[in-house]
Amino acid sequence: MEVIISHDAESASKKAARYIADVIKRKPNCVLGLATGSTPLALYKELIRMHKEENLDFSQVVTFNLDEYLGLPNNDPRSYHYFMHENLFSHINVKPENIHIPDGMTTDVLAFCEEYENKIKQAGGIDLQILGIGNDGHIGFNEPTSSFASRTRIKTLTHDTIESNARFFDNDENKVPRHVITMGIGTVMDSANVLLLAFGKSKANAISQTVEGPLSAFIPASVLQMHKHAKILIDEQAASLLKLKDYYRWVYDRKPEWNKWL
Ligand code: GLP
Repeated sequence: MEVIISHDAESASKKAARYIADVIKRKPNCVLGLATGSTPLALYKELIRMHKEENLDFSQVVTFNLDEYLGLPNNDPRSYHYFMHENLFSHINVKPENIHIPDGMTTDVLAFCEEYENKIKQAGGIDLQILGIGNDGHIGFNEPTSSFASRTRIKTLTHDTIESNARFFDNDENKVPRHVITMGIGTVMDSANVLLLAFGKSKANAISQTVEGPLSAFIPASVLQMHKHAKILIDEQAASLLKLKDYYRWVYDRKPEWNKWL
Protein backbone atom coordinates (compact mmCIF):
# COMPACT_ATOMS: atom_id res chain seq x y z
CA MET A 1 0.00 0.00 0.00
CA GLU A 2 1.46 3.34 -1.03
CA VAL A 3 0.16 6.45 0.73
CA ILE A 4 0.56 9.70 -1.19
CA ILE A 5 -0.38 12.92 0.56
CA SER A 6 -1.12 15.85 -1.71
CA HIS A 7 -1.60 19.40 -0.53
CA ASP A 8 -5.24 19.59 -1.58
CA ALA A 9 -7.94 17.78 -3.53
CA GLU A 10 -7.20 19.71 -6.70
CA SER A 11 -3.52 18.80 -6.89
CA ALA A 12 -4.33 15.19 -5.96
CA SER A 13 -6.96 14.99 -8.72
CA LYS A 14 -4.45 16.30 -11.26
CA LYS A 15 -1.93 13.68 -10.17
CA ALA A 16 -4.58 10.97 -10.46
CA ALA A 17 -5.52 12.16 -13.96
CA ARG A 18 -1.87 12.09 -15.08
CA TYR A 19 -1.57 8.55 -13.74
CA ILE A 20 -4.66 7.39 -15.62
CA ALA A 21 -3.50 9.16 -18.80
CA ASP A 22 -0.21 7.32 -18.47
CA VAL A 23 -2.00 3.96 -18.14
CA ILE A 24 -4.07 4.76 -21.26
CA LYS A 25 -0.98 5.82 -23.25
CA ARG A 26 0.87 2.65 -22.32
CA LYS A 27 -2.16 0.44 -23.00
CA PRO A 28 -4.72 2.20 -25.23
CA ASN A 29 -7.25 -0.64 -24.78
CA CYS A 30 -6.91 -0.73 -21.00
CA VAL A 31 -9.82 -1.62 -18.74
CA LEU A 32 -10.66 1.05 -16.17
CA GLY A 33 -12.85 0.50 -13.11
CA LEU A 34 -14.66 3.74 -12.31
CA ALA A 35 -16.31 5.23 -9.25
CA THR A 36 -18.99 7.82 -8.59
CA GLY A 37 -19.50 10.28 -5.72
CA SER A 38 -18.16 13.80 -5.28
CA THR A 39 -14.57 12.62 -4.80
CA PRO A 40 -13.66 11.72 -8.42
CA LEU A 41 -15.42 14.78 -9.94
CA ALA A 42 -12.27 16.93 -10.24
CA LEU A 43 -10.39 13.92 -11.63
CA TYR A 44 -13.04 13.44 -14.34
CA LYS A 45 -12.92 17.17 -15.17
CA GLU A 46 -9.17 16.95 -15.64
CA LEU A 47 -9.49 13.84 -17.84
CA ILE A 48 -12.02 15.72 -20.00
CA ARG A 49 -9.59 18.65 -20.26
CA MET A 50 -6.78 16.28 -21.26
CA HIS A 51 -9.03 14.71 -23.90
CA LYS A 52 -9.98 18.10 -25.34
CA GLU A 53 -6.63 19.89 -25.08
CA GLU A 54 -4.07 17.09 -25.19
CA ASN A 55 -5.88 14.53 -27.36
CA LEU A 56 -6.04 11.91 -24.64
CA ASP A 57 -7.70 9.10 -26.58
CA PHE A 58 -10.37 6.92 -24.96
CA SER A 59 -11.46 5.24 -28.21
CA GLN A 60 -10.23 1.80 -27.16
CA VAL A 61 -10.67 2.15 -23.41
CA VAL A 62 -13.16 -0.21 -21.74
CA THR A 63 -14.87 0.84 -18.49
CA PHE A 64 -16.69 -0.94 -15.68
CA ASN A 65 -18.44 1.05 -12.98
CA LEU A 66 -18.49 -0.13 -9.40
CA ASP A 67 -22.14 0.19 -8.54
CA GLU A 68 -25.68 1.42 -9.16
CA TYR A 69 -28.90 1.94 -7.20
CA LEU A 70 -31.57 -0.69 -7.79
CA GLY A 71 -34.84 0.74 -9.05
CA LEU A 72 -33.48 3.86 -10.76
CA PRO A 73 -33.69 3.96 -14.57
CA ASN A 74 -30.60 5.09 -16.50
CA ASN A 75 -32.10 8.49 -17.29
CA ASP A 76 -32.87 9.29 -13.64
CA PRO A 77 -30.56 12.20 -12.69
CA ARG A 78 -29.79 10.45 -9.39
CA SER A 79 -28.63 7.22 -11.04
CA TYR A 80 -24.94 6.49 -11.45
CA HIS A 81 -25.57 5.96 -15.18
CA TYR A 82 -26.67 9.57 -15.43
CA PHE A 83 -23.79 10.75 -13.22
CA MET A 84 -21.18 9.03 -15.38
CA HIS A 85 -22.59 10.31 -18.67
CA GLU A 86 -22.98 13.81 -17.32
CA ASN A 87 -19.57 14.03 -15.65
CA LEU A 88 -17.36 12.01 -17.99
CA PHE A 89 -18.63 9.81 -20.80
CA SER A 90 -20.49 12.39 -22.85
CA HIS A 91 -17.37 14.60 -22.95
CA ILE A 92 -14.82 12.03 -24.12
CA ASN A 93 -14.55 9.62 -27.06
CA VAL A 94 -15.20 6.37 -25.16
CA LYS A 95 -17.33 4.02 -27.27
CA PRO A 96 -20.82 3.40 -25.80
CA GLU A 97 -20.37 -0.35 -26.30
CA ASN A 98 -17.24 -0.24 -24.13
CA ILE A 99 -19.06 1.30 -21.15
CA HIS A 100 -20.42 -1.04 -18.45
CA ILE A 101 -22.48 0.08 -15.46
CA PRO A 102 -24.66 -2.22 -13.36
CA ASP A 103 -28.28 -2.06 -14.53
CA GLY A 104 -30.48 -0.70 -11.75
CA MET A 105 -33.61 -1.86 -13.58
CA THR A 106 -32.61 -5.47 -14.16
CA THR A 107 -35.39 -7.93 -13.51
CA ASP A 108 -32.95 -10.76 -12.79
CA VAL A 109 -30.36 -9.46 -10.36
CA LEU A 110 -28.55 -12.76 -9.85
CA ALA A 111 -28.12 -13.44 -13.58
CA PHE A 112 -27.12 -9.82 -14.20
CA CYS A 113 -24.42 -9.91 -11.50
CA GLU A 114 -22.97 -13.17 -12.82
CA GLU A 115 -22.91 -11.74 -16.33
CA TYR A 116 -21.19 -8.56 -15.09
CA GLU A 117 -18.42 -10.64 -13.53
CA ASN A 118 -18.11 -12.63 -16.79
CA LYS A 119 -17.82 -9.46 -18.82
CA ILE A 120 -14.98 -8.20 -16.62
CA LYS A 121 -13.19 -11.52 -17.11
CA GLN A 122 -13.79 -11.51 -20.88
CA ALA A 123 -12.35 -7.99 -21.07
CA GLY A 124 -9.15 -9.36 -19.53
CA GLY A 125 -9.72 -8.04 -16.00
CA ILE A 126 -9.51 -4.50 -14.67
CA ASP A 127 -6.13 -2.81 -15.17
CA LEU A 128 -6.83 0.07 -12.84
CA GLN A 129 -9.72 0.45 -10.41
CA ILE A 130 -10.52 3.97 -9.12
CA LEU A 131 -12.15 4.05 -5.69
CA GLY A 132 -13.61 6.62 -3.32
CA ILE A 133 -14.38 5.70 0.27
CA GLY A 134 -17.43 6.08 2.48
CA ASN A 135 -17.11 7.65 5.93
CA ASP A 136 -17.49 4.15 7.38
CA GLY A 137 -14.76 2.71 5.16
CA HIS A 138 -17.00 1.22 2.47
CA ILE A 139 -15.77 0.86 -1.10
CA GLY A 140 -18.24 0.70 -3.97
CA PHE A 141 -21.34 -0.13 -1.96
CA ASN A 142 -19.60 -2.85 0.05
CA GLU A 143 -20.89 -1.90 3.46
CA PRO A 144 -19.12 -2.84 6.72
CA THR A 145 -18.91 -6.63 7.22
CA SER A 146 -19.08 -7.32 3.48
CA SER A 147 -17.10 -10.46 2.78
CA PHE A 148 -13.58 -9.89 1.51
CA ALA A 149 -14.37 -12.68 -1.00
CA SER A 150 -17.60 -11.09 -2.27
CA ARG A 151 -18.35 -10.69 -5.98
CA THR A 152 -20.82 -8.45 -7.82
CA ARG A 153 -24.15 -8.77 -6.02
CA ILE A 154 -27.11 -7.01 -4.43
CA LYS A 155 -26.46 -5.18 -1.15
CA THR A 156 -28.70 -3.39 1.34
CA LEU A 157 -27.43 0.07 2.31
CA THR A 158 -26.68 0.91 5.93
CA HIS A 159 -28.54 3.75 7.58
CA ASP A 160 -25.29 5.79 7.61
CA THR A 161 -24.93 5.51 3.83
CA ILE A 162 -28.60 6.31 3.26
CA GLU A 163 -28.20 9.38 5.47
CA SER A 164 -25.03 10.56 3.75
CA ASN A 165 -26.41 10.00 0.22
CA ALA A 166 -29.73 11.70 0.99
CA ARG A 167 -28.06 14.93 -0.23
CA PHE A 168 -28.59 13.64 -3.78
CA PHE A 169 -32.27 12.81 -3.07
CA ASP A 170 -33.71 16.20 -1.97
CA ASN A 171 -32.23 15.57 1.49
CA ASP A 172 -35.00 13.03 2.00
CA GLU A 173 -33.72 9.70 3.36
CA ASN A 174 -36.98 8.01 2.35
CA LYS A 175 -36.20 8.65 -1.30
CA VAL A 176 -32.80 6.88 -1.20
CA PRO A 177 -33.09 3.35 -2.65
CA ARG A 178 -32.42 0.68 -0.03
CA HIS A 179 -30.82 -1.76 -2.45
CA VAL A 180 -27.91 -1.51 -4.86
CA ILE A 181 -25.80 -3.66 -7.14
CA THR A 182 -22.09 -3.40 -6.39
CA MET A 183 -18.91 -5.09 -7.51
CA GLY A 184 -17.71 -7.23 -4.62
CA ILE A 185 -14.56 -6.73 -2.59
CA GLY A 186 -13.12 -9.83 -4.27
CA THR A 187 -13.89 -8.22 -7.64
CA VAL A 188 -12.02 -5.06 -6.65
CA MET A 189 -9.11 -7.09 -5.27
CA ASP A 190 -8.72 -8.85 -8.64
CA SER A 191 -7.88 -5.52 -10.33
CA ALA A 192 -4.22 -5.25 -11.30
CA ASN A 193 -3.95 -1.78 -9.74
CA VAL A 194 -6.12 0.19 -7.34
CA LEU A 195 -6.14 3.94 -6.77
CA LEU A 196 -8.25 5.10 -3.82
CA LEU A 197 -8.95 8.82 -3.49
CA ALA A 198 -10.15 10.54 -0.32
CA PHE A 199 -10.43 14.22 0.45
CA GLY A 200 -11.54 16.23 3.47
CA LYS A 201 -11.74 15.86 7.22
CA SER A 202 -14.84 13.63 7.09
CA LYS A 203 -12.70 10.88 5.50
CA ALA A 204 -9.80 11.11 8.01
CA ASN A 205 -11.09 8.41 10.34
CA ALA A 206 -11.89 5.96 7.52
CA ILE A 207 -8.44 6.55 6.01
CA SER A 208 -6.63 6.07 9.30
CA GLN A 209 -8.45 2.76 9.86
CA THR A 210 -7.92 1.67 6.25
CA VAL A 211 -4.18 2.35 6.26
CA GLU A 212 -3.13 1.84 9.87
CA GLY A 213 -5.95 -0.15 11.44
CA PRO A 214 -6.32 -3.93 11.58
CA LEU A 215 -7.50 -5.84 8.54
CA SER A 216 -11.23 -6.09 9.16
CA ALA A 217 -14.40 -6.60 7.15
CA PHE A 218 -15.83 -3.93 9.46
CA ILE A 219 -13.68 -1.43 7.51
CA PRO A 220 -14.01 -2.86 3.98
CA ALA A 221 -11.24 -0.66 2.50
CA SER A 222 -8.71 -2.15 4.95
CA VAL A 223 -8.59 -5.17 2.61
CA LEU A 224 -6.39 -3.02 0.35
CA GLN A 225 -3.54 -3.72 2.79
CA MET A 226 -3.50 -7.12 1.06
CA HIS A 227 -3.45 -5.72 -2.50
CA LYS A 228 -0.15 -5.86 -4.39
CA HIS A 229 -0.53 -2.49 -6.10
CA ALA A 230 -2.81 -0.21 -4.10
CA LYS A 231 -2.22 3.54 -3.94
CA ILE A 232 -4.03 5.74 -1.45
CA LEU A 233 -4.01 9.33 -2.74
CA ILE A 234 -5.32 11.79 -0.16
CA ASP A 235 -5.26 15.45 0.79
CA GLU A 236 -3.84 16.88 4.04
CA GLN A 237 -7.21 16.77 5.79
CA ALA A 238 -7.94 13.15 4.96
CA ALA A 239 -4.37 12.37 6.13
CA SER A 240 -4.75 14.26 9.40
CA LEU A 241 -5.23 11.21 11.65
CA LEU A 242 -2.45 9.08 10.15
CA LYS A 243 0.25 8.29 12.71
CA LEU A 244 2.96 7.72 10.11
CA LYS A 245 2.12 10.59 7.77
CA ASP A 246 5.65 12.05 7.99
CA TYR A 247 7.05 8.66 6.99
CA TYR A 248 4.71 8.42 3.95
CA ARG A 249 5.86 11.87 2.84
CA TRP A 250 9.51 10.95 3.42
CA VAL A 251 9.14 7.79 1.33
CA TYR A 252 7.37 9.59 -1.50
CA ASP A 253 9.93 12.43 -1.62
CA ARG A 254 12.76 9.91 -1.92
CA LYS A 255 11.24 7.67 -4.57
CA PRO A 256 13.64 7.01 -7.43
CA GLU A 257 12.63 8.91 -10.57
CA TRP A 258 12.10 5.68 -12.56
CA ASN A 259 9.63 4.52 -9.94
CA LYS A 260 7.72 7.77 -9.60
CA TRP A 261 4.31 7.40 -11.17
CA LEU A 262 3.19 10.96 -10.58
C1 GLP B 1 -21.09 6.14 -2.42
C2 GLP B 1 -20.43 5.38 -3.58
C3 GLP B 1 -18.95 5.15 -3.30
C4 GLP B 1 -18.29 6.46 -2.91
C5 GLP B 1 -18.93 6.99 -1.66
C6 GLP B 1 -18.30 8.29 -1.16
O1 GLP B 1 -21.41 5.30 -1.37
N1 GLP B 1 -21.06 4.14 -3.81
O2 GLP B 1 -18.35 4.61 -4.47
O3 GLP B 1 -16.91 6.25 -2.70
O4 GLP B 1 -20.31 7.22 -1.93
O5 GLP B 1 -18.83 9.38 -1.84
P1 GLP B 1 -18.19 10.80 -1.89
O6 GLP B 1 -17.04 10.73 -2.83
O7 GLP B 1 -19.28 11.69 -2.41
O8 GLP B 1 -17.77 11.13 -0.50
